[in-house]
Amino acid sequence: MGVQRIRVGELVDLPLRRGKLVCAGGEEIAVWRVDGNVYAISAVCAHQHVATLHEGLRNGTTIACPLHGWTYALENGRALVGSGILRTYPVIVERGIVYVQVDEGV
Ligand code: FES
Repeated sequence: MGVQRIRVGELVDLPLRRGKLVCAGGEEIAVWRVDGNVYAISAVCAHQHVATLHEGLRNGTTIACPLHGWTYALENGRALVGSGILRTYPVIVERGIVYVQVDEGV
């Protein structure tokens, strides 16, 4: 199975206080810009399986779900409050454009 790059947009246009929801091949991905880094994590909270994490509350590199507060590390998707591990995706920034890499055919 190959991979494909999904164009998220220009780095400078990514908001700093909230995430951006990107839908790629049926997956909902929350893209967060934190200082000089960009992270991509499944937007679907492990608690009730709804796509909320692009609207979560960010504290450093953690995101708290706005519904009941389950909290995840952006670096690896691990729950710090609640349980589970969300999928994370490689991010590529090239000439100021942000891409997320997803499996082809997803
Ligand atoms: S749905 Fe995210 S914490 Fe409940």
